Amino acid sequence: VPSYHRLGQIPPKRHTQFRQPDGSLYAEELFGEEGFVGCSSLLYHRFQPTSVSGFQSLGAIRPYAWIPEAHRHHHFRTGLIANGGDPVAGRRVLMMNNDIWIGVACPTESMNYFYRNADADELLFIHHGKGNMETIFGVLPYEEGDYLVIPRGTIYRIVPSTGETRMLTIEAFGGSILPPKRYRNNFGQLLESSPYCERDFRLPLELPQHEERGDYEVRIKVNGELMAYQYDFHPMDVVGWDGYLYPYAFNIRDFEPITYRIHGPPPTHQTFEGPNFVVCSFVPRKLDYHPLSLPAPYVHSNIDSDEMMYYVNGNYSARKNIEEASITLHPRGIAHGPQPGAAEASIGKESTDELVVMVDTFHPLDLTEDARELDDAAYPLSWKIAR
Ligand SMILES: [Fe+2]
Repeated sequence: VPSYHRLGQIPPKRHTQFRQPDGSLYAEELFGEEGFVGCSSLLYHRFQPTSVSGFQSLGAIRPYAWIPEAHRHHHFRTGLIANGGDPVAGRRVLMMNNDIWIGVACPTESMNYFYRNADADELLFIHHGKGNMETIFGVLPYEEGDYLVIPRGTIYRIVPSTGETRMLTIEAFGGSILPPKRYRNNFGQLLESSPYCERDFRLPLELPQHEERGDYEVRIKVNGELMAYQYDFHPMDVVGWDGYLYPYAFNIRDFEPITYRIHGPPPTHQTFEGPNFVVCSFVPRKLDYHPLSLPAPYVHSNIDSDEMMYYVNGNYSARKNIEEASITLHPRGIAHGPQPGAAEASIGKESTDELVVMVDTFHPLDLTEDARELDDAAYPLSWKIAR
């Protein structure tokens, strides 16, 4: 959605005859959100996307809920998660509500199918690994630090080119994941005051235009159930497309931090907004420079949001015993803040090299059985001062 984009061959006028070299018509597909009033793209297929050979349900996908013994803070050591599965089936959802699922994937297997999440927009944060995301809109090479923004309905496959892949996975139900409205003007262009601009987005630039016949599977997640759809042609058969709706990449290191003399609030770090949640990036930056500044964050009572932080590296000075790939969850109703000694220790620090992805949700998050296995039960009492 960053801006209008076109790739490959398209006819000069939409909805007109556009013929293949053998004289047959290309199949034009309108790929759009919110009926016919949201963002959309027009895609031109070599084969009819409606030409299905077979289908079957693979069953419901619903993480098992875990209800902890009490409402409390959590620290999930996701570095301990068992590697396995492929980049879609290997996702382990840790927290969820009706708006969002948040999980981690450390896949070791390749995808011998394509995937279409018809339920949710996806935001994948690549912590480790690189490779290609193959989509019907073209190929998006990805690397460490990338946010991959995937509009719901995009057919894609993730093909890692290195052994180790680790990603934070976010699924947004009921709406799009977008740059915050306050960063954009009435036409959608990013403002001068935005911490990033259109040049920082990497759009699909290569369109392979597959014409192979054979047996291909597209797994479609819809209404919480996974369907296997069979086709006798390669689903990446698009010869051209244009519009406003397509996947793109944005690297967290292209987020230009905004700094203050005194402590800036978390919305300073906002990167994306979704339905009933925000995503923020805490990136290496200069710290507060008032003569009496206190760079550590203040104690904070989030009365009506749950705050999840994913520590991309472990150098987070406000909190002890946090390691790479730790997740902390500070839910509504109880205060959180720097741990004992962290505020004093932050005085005089001029910069930080922390790298953290934060998701704040406006409705409570439920936890899953996978989260229970990674829970550090000592964390809620880690602020207690020894006397
Ligand atoms: Fe907070």
